[in-house]
Amino acid sequence: KPKCLLRHFSSSGFWGLVNNAGISTFGETGWLSMEKYEKFTDVNLLGSIRTTLAFLPLLRKYKGRIVFMSSIIAYFALGNGIYSMTKAAIEKFCDALRLEMKKFGVQVSIIQPGNYARSTKIQPPVSAEEIWNELSEEEKAVYNKEYVQERANFFNNILSEGSPNGNEVVDAMVDALMSPAPKARYMVARLKEKALVLVCALFPTAVMDFFLSYALSKVKLT
Ligand SMILES: NC(=O)c1ccc[n+]([C@@H]2O[C@H](COP(=O)([O-])OP(=O)(O)OC[C@H]3O[C@@H](n4cnc5c(N)ncnc54)[C@H](OP(=O)(O)O)[C@@H]3O)[C@@H](O)[C@H]2O)c1
Repeated sequence: KPKCLLRHFSSSGFWGLVNNAGISTFGETGWLSMEKYEKFTDVNLLGSIRTTLAFLPLLRKYKGRIVFMSSIIAYFALGNGIYSMTKAAIEKFCDALRLEMKKFGVQVSIIQPGNYARSTKIQPPVSAEEIWNELSEEEKAVYNKEYVQERANFFNNILSEGSPNGNEVVDAMVDALMSPAPKARYMVARLKEKALVLVCALFPTAVMDFFLSYALSKVKLT
């Protein structure tokens, strides 16, 4: 299929590539299997890299645009480090690519949405029971069902606060593709989300940990 697409675009011209595909999940680091880490890396990171490399010759030829879907969660991890790590990695991939593509007139933009969980299918509410059933015996011996339930409730509360309207994210994508002067980064998020990013990006790690630990302090392992 990519070969057919490449042949088609080679003859008709190619302007923009949006690397949008992504998956999400929830779980503390040790709760997730190595297979899950490999799958997330494959879809959220390598998938975008694969597509970019396939279309790079055409994008250079037509001085096109490349847009990547990151997330504000590239700056911090709060319950889904597996997702954060892929977004942080794609940000750095883009940073390198953006500088390298300038000389060819190819513009690279990153979209960093905040919480839009209620407007897409990416992360339905999680079930504590399912998470517990998937834990290894070692993890079950360390954690307990109440803790998993509390963590799931905490995460589901965050999801329920997500914006139900993703139009502004699409607007940012369109601007990145069509504007005469696209931005390197479009942070499409609420004020409080932007404030959290600012704290995580500019202050020492201890300050970020303080804020995030405070948020998590209601969930205790007893
Ligand atoms: N929703 C949010 O709150 C939020 C916040 C920040 C960033 N993002 C990012 O926004 C992007 C779009 O996500 P969304 O929220 O719109 O979620 P979504 O509704 O679940 O859409 C995800 C898209 O990724 C595609 N996809 C998933 N796995 C794939 C695979 N293995 N190969 C090819 N395509 C695959 C899906 O295709 P199918 O429909 O065919 O499965 C779907 O089109 C993602 O990169 C996500 O990380 C979302």
